[in-house]
Amino acid sequence: MEIKAAVAYSPGKPLTIETVQLQGPQAWEVLIEIKASGVCHTDAFTLSGDDPEGLFPAILGHEGAGIVVEVGADVKSLKPGDHVIPLYTPECRQCDYCLSFKTNLCQAIRGTQGRGLMPDGTSRFSMGGDIIHHYMGTSTFANYTVLPEIAVAKIREDAPFDKVCYIGCGVTTGIGAVIYTAKVEPGANVVVFGLGGIGLNVIQGARMVGANKIIGVDINPKKRALAEKFGMTDFVNPQEIAGDLVPYLVDLTKGGADYSFECIGNVNTMRQALECCHKGWGVSVIIGVAGAGQEISTRPFQLVTGRVWKGSAFGGARGRTDVPKIVDWYMDGKINIDDLITHVMPIEKINDAFDLMHRGDSIRSVVTF
Ligand code: APR
Ligand code: ZN
Repeated sequence: MEIKAAVAYSPGKPLTIETVQLQGPQAWEVLIEIKASGVCHTDAFTLSGDDPEGLFPAILGHEGAGIVVEVGADVKSLKPGDHVIPLYTPECRQCDYCLSFKTNLCQAIRGTQGRGLMPDGTSRFSMGGDIIHHYMGTSTFANYTVLPEIAVAKIREDAPFDKVCYIGCGVTTGIGAVIYTAKVEPGANVVVFGLGGIGLNVIQGARMVGANKIIGVDINPKKRALAEKFGMTDFVNPQEIAGDLVPYLVDLTKGGADYSFECIGNVNTMRQALECCHKGWGVSVIIGVAGAGQEISTRPFQLVTGRVWKGSAFGGARGRTDVPKIVDWYMDGKINIDDLITHVMPIEKINDAFDLMHRGDSIRSVVTF
């Protein structure tokens, strides 16, 4: 079939809206009509050319929501008409990783996904006979896309697509890091580095589980008001305090954070996030993606004395199991997504979404079809 997609032809160039050929779903695959898609930093990172694994041409996008239109042979868990969120981290429930119950990093289709292909090693997208790569296994910057059944979360039908698409990446990454990766308990003191889309979701996750102090750290004072609305109790601007940040935070938390979250992607703040943790038990979770080739450092004594350094991808969430629950939390008013979606535009205007992001003028832009 012919579909409409924003195609990334080469690094650093704007996307162009094209008519693309889409092959229908093969066995264990489903065809999805995408209704809305968020535009995330990861899409911008790949488009910039800085992503060493970026492939071109490709259809980017990994934060979508839509409706199943057709299912291929042997698909059991989905049917036409189901409302769904595509998952860049699938959940096969059969691989060693899924069965360990210690990680959400399902490896069932990892190899082909990283090469921009479907699990059978081919692409469903083409133009004039030339293949176009899939991206993160999702390619949501298209009005139709094909996904493996194991990479699709079924959600309730009353959830608005242009809001819950954000659960496909940013919301789950932030809230999940609190709930699934760190398992923050009520009464804990939490420090959040970076109050962008990810950090604000960490803050509302911490509020949801009943954290005590929720301290936000950001060099941009304009981030304060919204962060307070999401549950931040204390704001720290590193440029406004006297002395070093780490002892300041240790003092503010009366001994150190029980949990800290790095939501910037800066290796210096990653170190600060670890070192502001409480001796003996403080856990620091890295969420931000550092530039290619960068390394983190600290004195090993920080770990010997009981601090723990962790990372989190997709919030540690198992997509098919946890994403529908997070949609319920939104529909029940437990979490706020509406205030994070600052811009909505038709797919034709998608390059504006990247401009807004680069200027720091948006938290999240959503494109609709
Ligand atoms: N110290 C404190 N705050 C900082 C610093 C710093 N050195 N540098 C940047 N910030 C703040 C910015 O002012 C901004 O409010 O960090 C915040 C980052 O927010 P966004 O740019 O909106 O990024 P976000 O979408 O939240 O993603 C954060 O997670 O998914 C990854 O690739 C993404 O690495 C990025 C990170
Ligand atoms: Zn993302």
